[in-house]
Amino acid sequence: MKKANKISILGAGNVGATIAYTLTLEGLASEIVLVDINKDKAKGEALDIIQCTALCPSVNIYSGEYSDLEGSDIVIVTLGCARKPGQSRIDLAQGNVNIIKSVMPQAVKYAPNAIYVAVSNPVDIITYTILKTTGLPENHVFGSGTLLDSARLREIIGTHLDVNPKHIHAYVLGEHGDSSMVPWSLTSIGGIPMNVYIDSIRKNKADLTSIDHDMTVETVHKAGGEIIKLKGATFYAIAVAATTICRTILHDADSVLPLSGMLHGEYGYSDVCLSVPFVLNRDGLVNSVTPPLSDEEMKKFSASADMLKDTLSQITI
Ligand SMILES: NC(=O)c1ccc[n+]([C@@H]2O[C@H](COP(=O)([O-])OP(=O)(O)OC[C@H]3O[C@@H](n4cnc5c(N)ncnc54)[C@H](O)[C@@H]3O)[C@@H](O)[C@H]2O)c1
Repeated sequence: MKKANKISILGAGNVGATIAYTLTLEGLASEIVLVDINKDKAKGEALDIIQCTALCPSVNIYSGEYSDLEGSDIVIVTLGCARKPGQSRIDLAQGNVNIIKSVMPQAVKYAPNAIYVAVSNPVDIITYTILKTTGLPENHVFGSGTLLDSARLREIIGTHLDVNPKHIHAYVLGEHGDSSMVPWSLTSIGGIPMNVYIDSIRKNKADLTSIDHDMTVETVHKAGGEIIKLKGATFYAIAVAATTICRTILHDADSVLPLSGMLHGEYGYSDVCLSVPFVLNRDGLVNSVTPPLSDEEMKKFSASADMLKDTLSQITI
């Protein structure tokens, strides 16, 4: 019986290398492969990380070729271009789609049974491209989607309310990008609907203000761009999000996470990849969850889905 966990990472840039580092610290994989067109970069990152293994869980990490993907349980796709200051994720679409189309046949040739996790942007379009061009099963291909955006949202709410974000359940759904939306009606704190929680806490904390929905969504939308403006790239939070996905898969954890998967009639949409809550386990995406949305939430979700469908119609896959 196979016991070791092998994770391959395509792209050893900021995001790919940080994911490798995060996976190493957590000890999730016994083997990690980094593949990049820039072979020196991939080799350098692998060497830098392997030098921590005397002091952390052991892992065999190395840079390699597509043939080294053989036997991978998970392949994480981070290669391509990243946003420059002022660019939207959609601006990257056709260029990164072309790169994905050129590399995926080699990846799938050697790792046909792996679960593929897209991180490259625009992640919903890249997820769709991988699905359409490889013929891989839909439960084995999905994107990190709005898991990062939802973590950002939970941090903002937690800071406002003085609550550990781990006890806040809140989702960003739709596109991983500027059209994403927050279904506020589903937001809860310690299992208590957010408004009920705030009203209750106000008894002892009269100055506690409600969450400004529009301003919070805008902060989430601008979060990545703000970091790119300040330091050129984002990679820590997305690396932890990717590691969370790998942990959920490898531990067969049946977690409910907002991820970008192929829709089949969810909220009236099909043939588009975007984020709704999905149950994730060792088999990949096993079920979507579609709690009812208010009319206003549904309008915003539709606007996001329509935007992605429109983008798909304008690019060549
Ligand atoms: N989904 C998310 O939440 C999220 C968050 C942050 C970044 N991203 C995205 O992740 C991607 C990577 O970002 P980054 O900051 O690591 O960029 P980066 O430029 O640092 O790294 C990209 C790597 O891809 C490699 N590459 C490019 N073309 C290749 C090819 N044909 N074959 C093999 N390797 C190739 C490059 O050599 C480079 O090392 C971007 O698309 C970025 O927008 C997504």
